[in-house]
Amino acid sequence: MKFRTRAIHIGSEPDATGAVVPPIYLSTTFVQPGPGDWGAFDYSRSGNPTRARVEKTIADLEGAAGSLAFSSGMAATHCAMGLLESGSHVVAGCDMYGGTYRLLHKICNRNNISVTLVHADDAAAIAQAIRPETKMVWVESIGNPLMSVPDLEQISQITNKAGVLLAVDSTFVPPCILKPLDLGADIVMHSATKYFGGHSDCLAGALSAKTPELHRQLYFIQNATGGVIGGLEAFLLHRGIKTMELRVREQSKSALAIAQWLESHRSVARVLYPGLASHPHHQRAVRLMGDQFGGMVTFDVRGDIETAKRLCKATELFGLAVSCGAVESLIEQPATMSHASYDPAARAQAGICDTLVRISVGLEDPEDLIADLDRALAIAGGA
Ligand SMILES: Cc1ncc(COP(=O)(O)O)c(C=O)c1O
Repeated sequence: MKFRTRAIHIGSEPDATGAVVPPIYLSTTFVQPGPGDWGAFDYSRSGNPTRARVEKTIADLEGAAGSLAFSSGMAATHCAMGLLESGSHVVAGCDMYGGTYRLLHKICNRNNISVTLVHADDAAAIAQAIRPETKMVWVESIGNPLMSVPDLEQISQITNKAGVLLAVDSTFVPPCILKPLDLGADIVMHSATKYFGGHSDCLAGALSAKTPELHRQLYFIQNATGGVIGGLEAFLLHRGIKTMELRVREQSKSALAIAQWLESHRSVARVLYPGLASHPHHQRAVRLMGDQFGGMVTFDVRGDIETAKRLCKATELFGLAVSCGAVESLIEQPATMSHASYDPAARAQAGICDTLVRISVGLEDPEDLIADLDRALAIAGGA
């Protein structure tokens, strides 16, 4: 069956009542057949029927041995980092979500885990940064916010050879476009708050593992640390996934049209979108993703930080907010918002400059979105 069909049917099989929409199990605990005789479910941190359904769907869509659903993307990332023992080293792409940067540099370091940041689109730099104590390479399949496109096939050959785990945060590129496990990754992480849920009403995360053993290890950490998704959110997430492919296809189309329009605007210095021929790794993106590149577009305004701020405040349809991937379009300034938790020097080194603006293209009519940006760019002024 094709992606759309599986998204709707796998994990949504009718229960004994025949309900087309499976019920939401809010129960935190389950009556046991006998002491020490665990039934299918015992306690909702360890397992919950509503969560189990959405995990089944995600595993199928990712081509995973198993998936786990979390209370947020960061809870999922934290669980993956739980695989690392004290003294481990991580090589991570510097074009990375600010919260992941913070987790690595301000939480994982407490457990004596060290990090080397490299440009993830440079596979040779990743190979060079791997040391004997390196346990994981962490990259985003499209980097947040600079839209870098790492060559996951090449990187997985490097990590395989080195015996290092390859974990991919694929939040910007949902599995209807790209399945990192098929390209050799060991773990794929999604902030399911974004394209999976798709409606800005459900905070969620997902980890999918290539092997049953890795799934077992991650499940152990999830159960031990407890960052599981609740029943209500699991239901909302499951509902969102059913329309993910349709939403992402339209969002990709609109994002490309908007990126092309921005490229021709005199107040815009540079547009970063993998679907544009001008993107440094456009051909690689086409090889890995085909003809869809998601709804995230980043661009540099001519002017200074104030120009970028004025632009973000002047849009009416694009809401000024962090997050992305939902039906409503959003705009933000990474340096002061999604990537504020970066060390300023590291932010500058990564190329996340003050004039950078990131938009998440939603499902509104692209002509309305372009008109909104046009008006806001005129208000923002710029050089
Ligand atoms: C690329 C990326 N990874 C991870 C996260 C963290 O996810 P969450 O906010 O669901 O914890 C985000 C959130 O914006 C993100 O954009």
